Amino acid sequence: MSNPQPVGVFDSGVGGLSVLEKIHQHLPHENLIYVADSAHAPYGGKPDQEIVGRCQQIMDFLLNQQVKAVVLACNTATAAAVNELRQAYGLPIIGMEPAIKPAALASVTGVVGVLATAGTIGSGKFLALKSRFEGNVQILTQACPGLVEHIEQGVPDLPALQQLLTCYVEPLISRGADTLVLGCTHYSLVKHHIAEVAGGGVRIMDTEFAVARELQRRLELIGQENASHAEGTITFHTSGEPGQQSVLLSNFWRSPVTALSLA
Ligand code: DGL
Repeated sequence: MSNPQPVGVFDSGVGGLSVLEKIHQHLPHENLIYVADSAHAPYGGKPDQEIVGRCQQIMDFLLNQQVKAVVLACNTATAAAVNELRQAYGLPIIGMEPAIKPAALASVTGVVGVLATAGTIGSGKFLALKSRFEGNVQILTQACPGLVEHIEQGVPDLPALQQLLTCYVEPLISRGADTLVLGCTHYSLVKHHIAEVAGGGVRIMDTEFAVARELQRRLELIGQENASHAEGTITFHTSGEPGQQSVLLSNFWRSPVTALSLA
């Protein structure tokens, strides 16, 4: 069986491009629709019900585009909304989960640092995940206010970014963390800057590739993968100003993108 219907991928803004890239590399024949909810980014400090409402609007848009599965390429939205979305929509929805498990296995010092939004760190989903591994390793968490905003502006000021990262990463390293988990898809877009600030020998872990593999597994399970040999198409939508967002998305996608209005 083969199904050419697209897969929807969405985030509060550009962060989910880190996931989209791995999906496109891993499943190059799948057609993909990316939605950046740029007009409402960041999600990090918003109440859960507001995030659920935004996710429902985007899900409805994606269902109108006939998607066969959705990747919720946002840790914050996964923590706030994935359970409700799974109950309301009858298609596979793959969410993000910070890579605490592999980090706990990899850490030699026994100290793991997690960088994520305040929304993710404070969520029941995250606290449950953290408590599963806390006996084996010490897990330090660090919210990063201002970081998503800076990335959503296209990293206009590199020294300011480095300063922000130093402020968030150094306390984790000085407390012995040898493994850092990127618990926000935006942070993966500046992974090399985080690695630089963390210094040699510190492992940086994200979940983008694992999510691409999980999508493949779920599509295979229901016989819905696209068996075409042609390269899949990728279309981009934004709730922000399309001209401005096209520039931003092209910058992080590293190739020209025309973002269409979500409306
Ligand atoms: N990319 C996001 C995440 O993975 C959302 C960040 C935000 O909008 O605050 O958490």
